[in-house]
Amino acid sequence: MQTFSTLSLQTLDATLLIQLNRPDKLNALNGTMLEELEAIFTDRQLIASHRSIVITGVGKAFAAGADIAELSECTEATGEAFSRRGQRVFQLIEACPIPVVAAVNGYALGGGCELALACHLRFASTKAVFGQPEVKLGIIPGYGATQRLVRLVGIAHALELMLTGEHISAERALAIGLVNRLVDAASLLDDTVAFCTKIAQLPRRAIESIIHCAYSASPLSFDTEARQFATLCGTEDFREGTRAFLEKRTPNFRGQ
Ligand code: COA
Repeated sequence: MQTFSTLSLQTLDATLLIQLNRPDKLNALNGTMLEELEAIFTDRQLIASHRSIVITGVGKAFAAGADIAELSECTEATGEAFSRRGQRVFQLIEACPIPVVAAVNGYALGGGCELALACHLRFASTKAVFGQPEVKLGIIPGYGATQRLVRLVGIAHALELMLTGEHISAERALAIGLVNRLVDAASLLDDTVAFCTKIAQLPRRAIESIIHCAYSASPLSFDTEARQFATLCGTEDFREGTRAFLEKRTPNFRGQ
């Protein structure tokens, strides 16, 4: 199997296990990680030789968002391409013909939460923490959450998460329908793979059709999100929010 610098791959039964592997940066999604995810989800042979995919994180995070060091370089001119790149990779995940399950082991924030949203199902450890904190950086989610979160949990819960930027517990995520199941941290991976192994006994073609039909019922549009994301990348508050995070201080927003 191909090797990657930010991901570890392994086959367990018929399940392809993808581990996000930048634990020192809480698996923040940088450009390389997105490229490597794209390579996997466009590899038809790799997908054809498995019955399901599980995505999880190494260490205490699933993924703590887009890499803020890279994000902070965005301008109004480059922000749309930044957003569209993540949107494209996550759309490949959603369109995958075999079930993709997020095994959320810890922080799933910003782009990390959006990655989980792009998976077909989400199993969460009781230690998982979810949130869309982009507003605290002066921007909006740019990898699909403005659409997928609304579809999944309804506009009221989605707006509460995105407008406050607050973290929520795994229990709360279960209560609002953001995750399918809560699992003990120690057995998260085993339980998720066991679930996938059970589905692998069922006919592949029918599984593929169910995924296809379920998503064709409510097609989403990501254009507005990418454009608004880019506009906000041109603001002073975005520069202040990202700089403050990197400098480990509280931001001073001025509404500009
Ligand atoms: N992008 C880049 N680096 C990130 C990151 C991100 N999204 N999230 C965490 N990191 C880095 C930190 O900068 C730190 O690096 P350093 O050790 O080189 O300084 C390392 O990961 C550990 O993070 P730290 O903040 O020290 O851990 P913590 O346990 O105190 O806090 C979080 C954990 C998740 C609450 C905090 O890291 C956080 O708020 N991250 C950003 C979340 C976010 O806004 N995501 C949306 C981005 S669009």
